[in-house]
Amino acid sequence: MCKSCNAIHLQWSGKCSSCGEWNTLAEERIDRSGGSRAVKVSHGGQGRVAILDSAQFGDSRLAIAVPTGSLEFDRALGGGITLGSVTLIGGEPGIGKSTLLTQFLIRAAEEYRCLYVSAEESMSQLAGRISRLGGGDSPIGVLISSELQAIEGQISEFKPAIVVIDSIQTIADSDLGSSSGSVIQVRECATRLAEVAKHHGIALVLVGHVTKDGSLAGPRVLEHLVDTVAYFEGDRDSSMRALRVIKHRFGPVGDLGMFEMGNTGLIDLANATGVHLLDRVAGQAGSAVFPALDGRRVMLSEIQALVVPTFSEQPRRVVTGLETNRLLLLLAVLEKKIGVKLHNKDVFVSVAGGVKLSEPAADLAVVTAVVSSLVDRPVDPSLIFIGEVGLGGEIRSASSSRQRMAEAQRLGFSSCLVSAGFSDDVPGMSAVKVKDVGSALGEASLIRQGAAG
Ligand code: TYD
Ligand code: MG
Repeated sequence: MCKSCNAIHLQWSGKCSSCGEWNTLAEERIDRSGGSRAVKVSHGGQGRVAILDSAQFGDSRLAIAVPTGSLEFDRALGGGITLGSVTLIGGEPGIGKSTLLTQFLIRAAEEYRCLYVSAEESMSQLAGRISRLGGGDSPIGVLISSELQAIEGQISEFKPAIVVIDSIQTIADSDLGSSSGSVIQVRECATRLAEVAKHHGIALVLVGHVTKDGSLAGPRVLEHLVDTVAYFEGDRDSSMRALRVIKHRFGPVGDLGMFEMGNTGLIDLANATGVHLLDRVAGQAGSAVFPALDGRRVMLSEIQALVVPTFSEQPRRVVTGLETNRLLLLLAVLEKKIGVKLHNKDVFVSVAGGVKLSEPAADLAVVTAVVSSLVDRPVDPSLIFIGEVGLGGEIRSASSSRQRMAEAQRLGFSSCLVSAGFSDDVPGMSAVKVKDVGSALGEASLIRQGAAG
């Protein structure tokens, strides 16, 4: 069975012919006698058509979202973790999943009965983390077990409202032949636990490890089985973490929760929007600020350019955080439309803070930074740039411009160069509408107005 797409093959091969992934096939023993159990999910409907009435609609029990105690976590999940729902939190080992969920349980245990099931750590490790995170006297139920039946038994005995399973890959049903972490086990255990959760109105949170080489049955096999899928991401070298919700049955997707990992756990990154600008030296030539969108969240980013004379036949174009081809295109537009001469210059462009931008809306900030460095003149530090540059040098509109400008305004920016099509009004922010690169660079006082060509 392919760990990535679940396709069944009758013999081993290095590559899955169904999804094209390499080294994802693993041998699975299929128990014919009870084989269909895994797909039989009972929702109590008895297979008959029903017309929904107020009894079903009025069942508000299932819509209760338990606040997580973190504004960022709540923001990502649209208010909290819903009772009666199943949430999968995936992420690489060591990123902070257990920390995030322990903190949630410490907060939730003030109001709800909570159970933390760990199959990976010892009781003293769990206790150590709980007390490190300030929950020394929290009434959290803790269960060390990797056995599905035992966990189910304890859930019906302890009757928790919130259950965290850390992690789903280490739980196994001993009736199934295959080992824990295999596709069959992961799916069977998740299905059974989800059934229990739905039945008792429990908020169930499954932790799933994702590894780059896919050596554990990826949580991907669970994505369709659960109500909410969120991935916890971050760089090992940085303390910044982001929770990205990619599926959510009870609210919007695409929002990000931003955290910082500290000595006493994860803290909300209060000013995530401007975090990449903290080291910016305002008033430096070759820099322009672009309000990027990550999911639905605005993150201000600084685009830096360095344009220096070269004596090489082949001038260098070095780009970090943007696509090289996009920069080449923008430089070509500058040469053609503005007459900027770059054939004897090396051009370095980078997005500060290791950020990667894929939005064409960053174009205007890129050309501004390049020209600003070329003429060695800074742009007004209170100015931001939003707009895609077309091949004809025209400035095209970008999505969510209003939202981007409003966030930038909150952080002290007061004007924005934006495409001529922008018709909204953002309080405290003056929108300077520009129709082409020439007028944009003129408005930014980098070239004389009307000097294009
Ligand atoms: P953990 O939550 O165990 O990660 P996961 O469950 O995703 O594997 O956290 C891993 C790292 O976080 C670990 O290297 C220690 C660090 N950490 C802190 O920096 N501060 C803390 O308060 C805690 C609890 C952990
Ligand atoms: Mg863990």
